[in-house]
This record gives sequence, C-alpha cells and structure tokens, in this order.
Amino acid sequence: MDEIRMAVVGLGSRGTGTWFTLLQRMAGYRLTAICDPIVALHERAVVRLHHLEEVRVYRRYEDVLADPNVDAVALTVRCREQGALAAQALEAGKHVNAEVPAAHTIEDCWRIVTAVERTGRVYQLAEQTRYWGFVEAWRQLVAEGRLGHVTLCEGQYFHYYPNHSFQDPQTGRFFAPHEVAAHPEAKPTWPYFMPPIHYLPHELSPMLYVLNDRVVEVVAMSTRSPSYAHPELAQPDMQVALMKTEKDAILRLAKSSAQPHPHQNYHWYQVVGTRGRVEWKRAARDLPKLWLADAQMHDLADVDWRYERTDAPPEARGSGHGDADYYVQAAFRDAVLGQRPLVFDVYQAMDTAAPAILAAESIAQGSRLLPVPDFRPSAARPAGQLPRHGRESPSARGA
Ligand SMILES: NC(=O)c1ccc[n+]([C@@H]2O[C@H](COP(=O)([O-])OP(=O)(O)OC[C@H]3O[C@@H](n4cnc5c(N)ncnc54)[C@H](O)[C@@H]3O)[C@@H](O)[C@H]2O)c1
Repeated sequence: MDEIRMAVVGLGSRGTGTWFTLLQRMAGYRLTAICDPIVALHERAVVRLHHLEEVRVYRRYEDVLADPNVDAVALTVRCREQGALAAQALEAGKHVNAEVPAAHTIEDCWRIVTAVERTGRVYQLAEQTRYWGFVEAWRQLVAEGRLGHVTLCEGQYFHYYPNHSFQDPQTGRFFAPHEVAAHPEAKPTWPYFMPPIHYLPHELSPMLYVLNDRVVEVVAMSTRSPSYAHPELAQPDMQVALMKTEKDAILRLAKSSAQPHPHQNYHWYQVVGTRGRVEWKRAARDLPKLWLADAQMHDLADVDWRYERTDAPPEARGSGHGDADYYVQAAFRDAVLGQRPLVFDVYQAMDTAAPAILAAESIAQGSRLLPVPDFRPSAARPAGQLPRHGRESPSARGA
C-alpha cells in the first residue's frame, strides 16, 4: 500500500477544516468517504472536496465500516461514544486516527487497547501539542536532568467555548446559551453534559511526554453545576485534578470552558524540579521563563520558546496549532504504511485519556483518590484480553 484511503467521520469545523485540508494536501492520503448523521452538513462538506467523484457520502457509521474502499477512519466526532466508535472501527479492520480526547469511559479505553492488540491495526490519538517546539525543549531539559527531580508539573486549558453546547440536530446550527430560550429546536450537545476535566489531552499528552512518565493516581474537585457564568449550562465553570506519577511528580491540571477567558493563549504549563523550573508565558506579549538553580541566575529569565519548531519541515508550516497539526497526520501515515513505528502508541494514548476520565469519576465520588490502570500487557493481562474484572474498577487506596 502506498496510499491510505481515508474516511472522515464527523463533519464539524475540525473535520471539514484542518482534516480535509491536510488529508487532501499530504502525499500518502486519499479521501474516499465522509460521514455525519446530520445530513444538512453534507452539502457544506462536499464543496470542500477536491475530488468529489472519489468520495462516498454516508449518514450511517456502519456503512463507512462496511466500505471496502476505506482503509482508515479519521474520527472527528464530538460525542460520548467517541471511544466506542474507535473500537468498532478497529474491530472492523480499519486503522483509526482519532481526535482528542479519545474516550469518555474506562471501558472504551480497554476496548480500544484490546482491539489494537487483537487486530494489529494502527490506533493514534491525534494529539498534536506534544509536537510543539517548547515541549520538545522542555523534554530535553528534563531528560538531561537540568531541572533535577521534577516535583510539580502544572497544566491548564481555559478555553471559553459556550457556543457549542446547543445545536439543532436537523440543520447542525449551534446556538449560544442566551439564544436557547427563543429556539426550542436547540438541543443540548455532548459538551453540555461532558465533565470539562475530560478534556485534558492537550495538558496530559505534552506534559507526560516532557516527563516521560505516566499517571498512577488521581483526585479532583469541581465547582458546582450549573455554571455561574452561564446558568443555562450544566457544565461547571472549573474542574481541577491532582495527579501522582510513577516517577513521583505531582501534576495539577485545570480545565474550564464555560467561563470567559481571553481568546488566545488558552494553555499554560509549568514544570518545577529540584534544580530549576520552566514556565509558559502568561499573556501573548509575555515570554516563557527558565530558571536554573546552579547557573548563577538570580531570577527567572525570558526564553523565546514558541509553539512552532525551529526544525519544522516546509509542509508543516501553517498546518494549524503552531504547525503541530501536520505531525499527527505524518506520524499516522508513516505508521500505517509501515515506514515508521508509531511514537505515540495506544498505551500512551490511554495514559492521556484515562486519568482525565477518572478525574471526573473522582469528583462524582466526592473527591475520592482513584488508581489509574496501566494499559500495557502483563502477566495478569495478556495482550488482547480484557482485565479480569472487565475493567480495572477504580477503588480508593485502602478502601
Ligand atoms: N486537536 C485539536 O486541537 C482539536 C481542535 C478542535 C476540535 N477537536 C476535536 O475534534 C472533534 C470535532 O470537533 P468539532 O469542533 O468539529 O465538533 P462539532 O461538534 O462541530 O462536529 C462534530 C460532528 O460529529 C458528528 N457526529 C457526532 N456523533 C457522530 C457519529 N456517531 N457518527 C458520525 N458523526 C457524528 C456531529 O454530528 C458533528 O457534526 C472533537 O472530538 C474535538 O474534541 C480537536
């Protein structure tokens, strides 16, 4: 195979924007199917296709999975069943490149892992921020021991995003919270119900890459539901998780999408160790910071680290999210075509998804401390088999 025949499933702005653009531009890909249950969105999607004659347009996901002209599924859906849809595709023999946040239940995480193990198909979580330039620089600093033993790592994603919480299922039109009272056709979407802390892939993926680590336990808290900022929304304004890693670092991760935030610089990160620290910029006009305990530095210094990498190939430029969107498409293509093993494998993908799901479960259980399963095969769980109890049900330490 020298070309992957792709289906894009989920024809919202992400699927028809970045994904259509890159899959139609990059060598090694051919777009052969698109799918969305909202038929009204098909027309808007079709006009963005370069070779309409090659593309089947589906309403039903099952039809995509049954299409022999589809080798791989790009899952750009936003729904509770996102993880189950990925597993279903793998079980049908398709490779999967799935948008964040991968899954919304631990059962679906296990189903994805075991499907990959049984079928040998490629599953990639298309989390792109791990490719950012400053993330690579911070990983090197940690790997070289320049920061000492990392004791604290912080990440937050404050993206004011209330306008995707209601949608007309016939037309696909979204409604802002203040419009809902006048529009009975506006129905709550998954983001209306989703615990905000589920959306930590852009924090956990890059920071676990920097630390070369995995989370072993989680506890979390939430402000109340409904939102203070928009009482029409069930989503709490703020959820915060504390996590412990295998290498004994503490992570503090926060997520908010209902309360206002400047329309830029949504992410903020900090890594603190026994010999130094690095910090992302607080505002667009600011610069990231570095301090090393053994370098005669009296204060934090500004460093011109950016999202964009200095070593980006020309085809990455302008691909989206500080050039990072290119990398997930290149990595998936090379893995499916057998040119390069997948760096961010299914186990690391679940290391990213599961702690966020369990943070919400911790909140639901009154901020109970919960263990995070290791999804890698072991003597207790041979590859391809589910864990003995169907899932590793979280239990509080000592309970
Ligand atoms: N990596 C990033 O930086 C980034 C940026 C934006 C969005 N995203 C992710 O991309 C995905 C899509 O985001 P969006 O803003 O386009 O969302 P959206 O809500 O605008 O579009 C999602 C589409 O999926 C469709 N869908 C839902 N369930 C489906 C199913 N079972 N089968 C087929 N289609 C189904 C919906 O009808 C909708 O049209 C989400 O998972 C989101 O988290 C990632």
